[in-house]
Amino acid sequence: MKKQYDFLVIGSGLAGLSFALKVADKGKVAVLTKTNIHETNTSYAQGGIAAVTYKPDNYEKHIQDTMKAGDGLCNEEVVRMVVNEAPAQIHELINWGTHFDREKNGKFDLAREGGHSESRILHHKDDTGKEIQRALVKRVKQHPNIDVYEHFFALDIITQHHLGVLVKWRYTNIECYGVYALDIRKQKIVKFLSRITMMSSGGTGNLYSTTTNPAIATGDGIAMVYRAKGTVENMEFVQFHPTSLFNPNERPSFLISEAIRGHGGILKTIDGKEFMHKYDKRRSLAPRDIVARAIDLEMKLRGDDYVYLDCRHLNAKDLVKHFPNINDKCKSLGIDITKDFIPVVPAAHYLCGGIKVDRDGCTVINRLYAAGETTSTGLHGANRLASNSLLEAVVYAHKAAKHALNHFKKYEFNKQIPDWNDHGVRHPEEMVLITQSYKEVQQIFSVYVGIVRSNLRLKRSLDRLETIFHETERLYQKSVLSVQLCELRNLINVGYLIIKSAMHREENRGLHYNIDYPPTDEIKISY
Ligand code: FAD
Ligand code: SIN
Repeated sequence: MKKQYDFLVIGSGLAGLSFALKVADKGKVAVLTKTNIHETNTSYAQGGIAAVTYKPDNYEKHIQDTMKAGDGLCNEEVVRMVVNEAPAQIHELINWGTHFDREKNGKFDLAREGGHSESRILHHKDDTGKEIQRALVKRVKQHPNIDVYEHFFALDIITQHHLGVLVKWRYTNIECYGVYALDIRKQKIVKFLSRITMMSSGGTGNLYSTTTNPAIATGDGIAMVYRAKGTVENMEFVQFHPTSLFNPNERPSFLISEAIRGHGGILKTIDGKEFMHKYDKRRSLAPRDIVARAIDLEMKLRGDDYVYLDCRHLNAKDLVKHFPNINDKCKSLGIDITKDFIPVVPAAHYLCGGIKVDRDGCTVINRLYAAGETTSTGLHGANRLASNSLLEAVVYAHKAAKHALNHFKKYEFNKQIPDWNDHGVRHPEEMVLITQSYKEVQQIFSVYVGIVRSNLRLKRSLDRLETIFHETERLYQKSVLSVQLCELRNLINVGYLIIKSAMHREENRGLHYNIDYPPTDEIKISY
């Protein structure tokens, strides 16, 4: 079965939907999403989106905060471009129907988060992502040129490789002609041909047992592009959010937004003592890498399973007004955030690296763009500044759309692309072979490739992963394709890149912390 579109978009988060809206007036667009259109990391975003709006804030401050958090690895040109583009893209989100909270005088109610020197986070209560997703989905559904394919799982991007051309590593003229996708409900593989493809498939939090990411975040886009011989970089920089709600067995882990610390919440150990002053002068509002490492160390030293976030000293009415969802969630577990400590623990949250793109969102594969969490743009460097991710997604969707609109007409649909080749007869396999390996991979990453790493742990994780890799490849060759099997295969692929990148980085920088290398000035923690 074949379908043909000018623009093919993988993913229905902020990056994918905003790209779709920006190109749809000029051509036919297909948006593929592997579950329903709302189930994205975007929908779970709480704190908000960073942008300079009023004095005393200015672009230079946002630029310097971003670069400082990035620990020397940000691309300054990219940082300047994104920060400068922010107000225009916020305007676009508002035009599409997004509501950001305002004060009585009509000005935006700006929040503050870790690493920001000013209050500059636009938000909608504590469910900003849900509000953005709501507005974009409504717009997309109204647009006559956009077809949304829910429950379609992109398996691989189509390149010359599928025409039998031998594509060598670093071959410079690789072209993307579309994707093969599994129609999950009909269990059929559909060939989507396109002039332009946008990879906006999000992050990979599910490599870890404890993550704030919903189940869709399995690094599929990064794995697909890596298999197609695109460039992937900066994979060692996995961000752990310092404060997910300690509620064992809940997946995804519920986030306790950093904006609560921006509002005055203070981290304490279980015996009620503050500890962040030992690690950074910004205390509970230091950048995430520092806070997450400090919590990890305090928990290890004390043998505790969590630390506390204390909001009891804050104005109760104000707290509940600003954080209604966090309040409701905690209440459902018997925690009154105005009177009780909130138990919190770090959880895998965001991948700073990914598919390398240039300033127009172009990958090294012709006709293939990428935007959002699946990419490495140079904005985040070694550590992402809070609330810069939604911003990056919408800015790069914009840049990519502009570039794609100038070029898409020169590309023809490739009529010679064959249907998906199933490589012989496939048999169903016991699902436990996949689910158990999935859990093992998560264990390996949580224990050996987490907030604190060592050379021995990394070597051990690689050895363990190799066994599961071979078992999974054998399964993939002979069994009926399932989403679970493909996601496991993609996670292994992305996990391999994370371990290899971590092994290559022989220093401590940003989110990457290895006890076999000397601590930097910023990291005053000794394990
Ligand atoms: P996503 O929104 O994750 O969308 C990915 C899409 O790709 C989904 O539709 C998925 O189904 C689809 N997909 C994936 N693989 C396939 C496949 N094989 N086939 C078909 N479809 C596929 N950032 C901020 O800036 N501010 C915040 O306040 C903030 N809070 C956060 C809170 C939480 C709990 C989490 C998890 C993240 C938060 N982030 C925040 C990060 C931010 O939400 C994400 O980085 C951002 O939304 C990513 O957007 P995206 O469009 O790149 O990907
Ligand atoms: C949060 O609300 O703490 C999440 C912000 C982010 O991930 O940028």
